[in-house]
Amino acid sequence: MRPHIPVLLNEVLNFFDPAQGKRFIDATLGRGGHTAELLAKGAEVLGIDADPAVVAASEIRAPRFKIANGNFGDIKKIAEDHNFTGIDGVLFDLGLGSHQLDDPERGFSFQKDGPLDMRFFKTELTAHRIVNFYPEKDLIRIFQKYGEEMRFARRIARAIMIERKSGSIDRTARLFEIIKKTLPAKFRFRAGDSARRIFQGLRIEVNDELGNLERGLQQALLLLKQGGRLVVISFHSLEDRIVKTFFVKEAKDCVCPPSFPVCRCDARASLKILTKKPVLPAEEEIKINTRSHSAKLRAAEKI
Ligand SMILES: C[S@@+](CC[C@H](N)C(=O)[O-])C[C@H]1O[C@@H](n2cnc3c(N)ncnc32)[C@H](O)[C@@H]1O
Repeated sequence: MRPHIPVLLNEVLNFFDPAQGKRFIDATLGRGGHTAELLAKGAEVLGIDADPAVVAASEIRAPRFKIANGNFGDIKKIAEDHNFTGIDGVLFDLGLGSHQLDDPERGFSFQKDGPLDMRFFKTELTAHRIVNFYPEKDLIRIFQKYGEEMRFARRIARAIMIERKSGSIDRTARLFEIIKKTLPAKFRFRAGDSARRIFQGLRIEVNDELGNLERGLQQALLLLKQGGRLVVISFHSLEDRIVKTFFVKEAKDCVCPPSFPVCRCDARASLKILTKKPVLPAEEEIKINTRSHSAKLRAAEKI
């Protein structure tokens, strides 16, 4: 297993300023890199992860640490069930960790052969079901909207429809092969780029990643006490757009349409944005931790 280096750790610690008596929720525990540092500074932490394998493998033992297997889309209920309220900070470090990407049996990587699974949770929907049973128009939608594969989405969806007539597509390597051979010859040497996008699209659909992020942000805001902070690390533009839109909306005093001459909504800002532009990792961090290269951190404070 690769050594684990938490992304943008110093930046997270700067925004949270963890100390004894402070309470944080790590909504994406993973291998606990961020959590371990918060605990080391004396804070209390509730670590949540959707993946039962992550929770089972956690080696963090501290009286100030609680762990929960659950979906951050239900973060409010999870925190309340664990009597963990009055929160100083909530961290979302989105996407999947190397512990998942490196395990072929999870089916997240086109570079390792495994079953087409891609689930964080034990839900019914798998990448296998999407690839083998979704109608063509939905495959195109997922590849374009969630995979951001604009150029070859239609072609790849068509090829999948044809291939699955002669037998089910069960493995990641098989799907990669279909993607590769579907691309025009001069793009084939970059098949990995298309595959990465197609796999991203499938993973987002399987785990309803964007829906859960929207729900998670809304609920995290309710859990924070005044002055508490929300820190989100995202890895692609779809996630970052959701975070940015949420922050901008919650930082506004009025959300009436511009055509209204006077405010009728009575909305009041609940967040102050702390990062006008997203914080990116320094060159040095990218050199030692390639996963960080596309990371963007946004932070806001509850007012
Ligand atoms: C990038 S890793 C987190 C790494 C962690 N910050 C660390 O330093 O070890 C993201 C984790 O979020 C989890 N995850 C993804 N979607 C989730 C969701 N909706 N609810 C809870 N956990 C989720 C994944 O299972 C994965 O373990």
